[in-house]
Amino acid sequence: MNDDIKKGLLGIVVDETEVSKVMPEINSLTYRGYAAQDLCEYCRFEEVAYLILNKDLPNSIQLKKFEREERNNRELTKNLYEIIKHMPKKSHPMDVARTAVSVMGLEDKETTDSSHESNMRKALRIFAKTPTALAAFYRIRKGKKIIKPKKTLSFAENFFYMCFGKVPQKEIVKAFDVSLILYAEHSFNVSTFTARTITSSLSDIHGAITGAIASLKGPLHGGANEEVMHMMNKIKKPSNALKWIKNALKNKEVVMGFGHRVYKSGDSRVPTMREYFGKVAKIKKDKKYEKIYDIVEKVMIKEKNIHPNVDYPTGPTYHLMGFDTDFFTPIFVISRITGWSAHIMEQHAANKLIRPLASYKGNRHRKVMQLNQR
Ligand code: CMC
Repeated sequence: MNDDIKKGLLGIVVDETEVSKVMPEINSLTYRGYAAQDLCEYCRFEEVAYLILNKDLPNSIQLKKFEREERNNRELTKNLYEIIKHMPKKSHPMDVARTAVSVMGLEDKETTDSSHESNMRKALRIFAKTPTALAAFYRIRKGKKIIKPKKTLSFAENFFYMCFGKVPQKEIVKAFDVSLILYAEHSFNVSTFTARTITSSLSDIHGAITGAIASLKGPLHGGANEEVMHMMNKIKKPSNALKWIKNALKNKEVVMGFGHRVYKSGDSRVPTMREYFGKVAKIKKDKKYEKIYDIVEKVMIKEKNIHPNVDYPTGPTYHLMGFDTDFFTPIFVISRITGWSAHIMEQHAANKLIRPLASYKGNRHRKVMQLNQR
């Protein structure tokens, strides 16, 4: 292949951003200049969502207003509930999320207005409604009654409530909140770049987020947290883990939840998420997945020098919280809507059509034969 080709845009800087900075050399990640692990320690997810969208942490009045708006926009239209009720029960919830956001675009009165003010209002509506759509599907496919959102509950509490009918103890809610903070933003990853590419043709925010969800679904990106759980289920018990991972490496398999395009010596989000995975395992009195986790991680680092990424600890954490495996990536969606929206608005503010080149290697100058001569 021609040396000028940067397949997968490896190492290519395509634009500037103020939203977040990934610093693999010092194993750090900042959102608008704040370290993600500090945000996990001192903030609730809503504060971080506000920060990502508005460029600054809120004071208490700003936070109250933001939360009020989010809570007031959670409800879906009757039409969207009906559409979700009629979706095939076996649909992947990522496809449900993608379709739901697309329908929100059909219903939104401001769809064609891509001004910053309008995009802010639409981002907030998508952010508030997508968890309701997903939770409705969570219940419907189990033959259960939909639980409507509750305004007295936080973003995280409300998601548990709409899925399970109750809010778990505060340590579990905190672990979930931390996972949302860590998933909220990560610079020019595949789904964000997809959203920015769609935006660059001056398309609308609903379309850009719909495309981003499709991109996040893939197992090399957000879908990895589900694949991690499938892997742990295949391993079954800690005593099988060593043999399983050695065999996987012998067969040159890609081990899900490991490796990263940018971080080569460890994902900065992993230590925080690993800590909260441990806390949830302790509360649930289930150490099985932690033991499997540690064995597989040790072998991957020792034999391949490949470290876990954030999807490795989130997978088993969500499982212990009681979520179905195919809901793990949709949880990533409800958080990343904030990062995608910030990037979409940044792209709109300083747009340049994204249109790379390709090196052609197909046939040249073929003569067209008429149909009856072929
Ligand atoms: N298991 C086994 N080998 C791996 C892995 C892995 N998870 N990741 C990388 N490698 C090997 C790969 O086979 C290659 O080896 P060789 O040079 O001998 O061909 C080398 O490491 C470089 O890997 P690469 O695939 O060329 O690197 P990349 O930067 O293109 O890929 C990646 C990054 C995330 C796609 C890849 O590490 C991977 O497939 N990981 C598994 C899926 C996963 O966990 N994705 C989540 C990504 S982070 C969070 C998120 O976005 O959700």
